[in-house]
Parts: sequence; C-alpha cells; structure tokens
Amino acid sequence: MEYIKLNNGISMPVLGLGTWALHGKECEGCVSKALEYGYRLIDTAQMYGNEKEVGNAVRKSGIPRKEVFITTKLCTPCTSYSAAKSGIERSFENLGVDYIDLLLIHEPYSTSLEIYEAMTEGVKEGKIKSIGVSNFNKNFYLDFIKKCEIIPAVNQVECHVFYRQKDLQNTLEENGTHMQAWSPFACGKNNFFNNSVLNTLGIKYGKSAAQIGLRYLVQAGISVIPKSSHPDRIKTNADIFDFELNEDDLSRIQKLDLNKTLFGWY
Ligand SMILES: NC(=O)c1ccc[n+]([C@@H]2O[C@H](COP(=O)([O-])OP(=O)(O)OC[C@H]3O[C@@H](n4cnc5c(N)ncnc54)[C@H](OP(=O)(O)O)[C@@H]3O)[C@@H](O)[C@H]2O)c1
Repeated sequence: MEYIKLNNGISMPVLGLGTWALHGKECEGCVSKALEYGYRLIDTAQMYGNEKEVGNAVRKSGIPRKEVFITTKLCTPCTSYSAAKSGIERSFENLGVDYIDLLLIHEPYSTSLEIYEAMTEGVKEGKIKSIGVSNFNKNFYLDFIKKCEIIPAVNQVECHVFYRQKDLQNTLEENGTHMQAWSPFACGKNNFFNNSVLNTLGIKYGKSAAQIGLRYLVQAGISVIPKSSHPDRIKTNADIFDFELNEDDLSRIQKLDLNKTLFGWY
C-alpha cells in the first residue's frame, strides 16, 4: 500500500474500500476481504448505516488498530454543535473504536462551522486524529477555511476520469487540503467499465479499465475509495501499484474529462 501525508503529518493510505450500499453480513464480509487483500483504509459514514459492520470486520481481522485507517462522516441530523457532539459519540459506539482516524462533514451545511467546532474539540481531546470535509466546492471551501480553526486535512469529492476537478484540487492543495475521490469509477455511469480509452490502455498494461481509472487518479496525487461487493474485484481494484501511465496515456485520459458532475445531487 502507498501512503500520502496529510497536513497534520499523519499518513493515509492512497487507496481504501468504499462501503456505500454495503450492509449487514455482506458489508462485514467485504471489509474483511479487503483487509485480507491489503487494504488499510475503510470509508464509511453514519448515512451508510454500516459503521457497526465496519468496526466488527476491523476488530475480527486481528490487524493492529493503528494499521487500519477508518474514515467516517457526520450528516443530518448532526447539524448543530450539540447534535454533532452526540453524533461523534454515536460513531464511536457504532464503530467500537477508541479513536477515529478521519472524520468528515458529509456535505456542506449552513451550520458547517459549528459541526466542525465539535469535531475540532474531538481532535484536541485526542479522540479524532484528523478532520475534514466532503462535497465542498471551491467557494464554500475558501469561505470555510477563513473561519475554521483547523484546515481540513481532506475534502472528499466526486472525482473520476469524466470529472477530474483539477481546479478544485489545485485550490485545495494551495491551502493544505488533500483531495480524495469518491465514486472513482463514476459508479459505472457513462459506461465507465467499457470506455474504449481505458480499455485500450488496459490492454497495453495488462490491466482493467477499473485499474487504469484508479491509477490515473493516484498518479495525480488523489486518493481513491472504490467500492465493490465482489471479492475478486476488491482484490484486483487494489492492484494498481506495479505500473505507471506515461504522459501520452495521461493526455488521452484527460480528454475524457467532461468537466461536470455526473451525479448532481449535491
Ligand atoms: N462523500 C460522499 O458524499 C460520497 C458519495 C459517494 C460515494 N462515497 C464513497 O465513495 C465510495 C465509492 O463510490 P461509489 O460506491 O459511489 O462508486 P464507485 O466506487 O465509483 O463504483 C462502484 C460500482 O462499480 C462496480 N465495480 C467496482 N469494481 C468493479 C470492477 N473492477 N469491474 C466492474 N465493476 C466494478 C461496483 O459494483 P459491485 O459492487 O457489484 O462490484 C459498483 O456498482 C462509496 O462506496 C463511498 O464510500 C462518498
């Protein structure tokens, strides 16, 4: 596994397992398999309703807690200072851990600063290692960092070959925030897995379209959290560290950028 350094000096794996839409035994099984295959970051959220299963799988893996990086996120109803305080406690109970590696505000709220204040206190108490945001666009982010006490370590946003968000990444990096890609496969939209550019490059390197798409982001300094419910895919999705795309490959993939969201719900 490769790691990147966050603005507080903490190392975070560049690849992790996304767990949206994974529930119950299936979720626990997928997280267990991912850890067995070398994943060391698991991305969950209160909204996904699977923090318990993620915590169980991490504990049962026998891997020392300090080697596994757990991200979770606060959303509605944790949108006031006091609700965020209780929300944080709920995540601790669900996950069954004594610290959280990365806690994010799931999406921008008008009360984001007070949610973040509760999270900042968690950092000062040593219960939360890093804090950040998710789905913050450039303007919201720039306004937010003028007022918050701790610069977000991460902004987790939609990012894939069809929506690369280079301008946002530049702004985040200028200000010390790492960009992490959610839906790095565009959740299969736009016929991602059958894309001819990705598949042609896949043939060249003996890789799949999925692996080319992830490699493209990781080479650009973006961490990725692909989700799969299939153990074979979980395994191969992480096999992206033994090859390098060249300048010509990168410029071919860059041309796929449509420069607009494929989701549009945030
Ligand atoms: N912060 C946010 O607001 C936010 C929003 C969205 C997502 N996220 C996080 O980001 C994670 C990833 O995003 P996502 O789950 O939306 O989408 P994704 O990772 O881009 O794509 C997942 C889809 O791709 C399929 N897939 C995975 N590997 C494959 C492969 N090798 N070949 C073919 N199909 C493959 C999966 O199907 P199978 O499961 O059947 O393999 C699933 O349908 C989420 O799970 C969540 O943790 C965060």
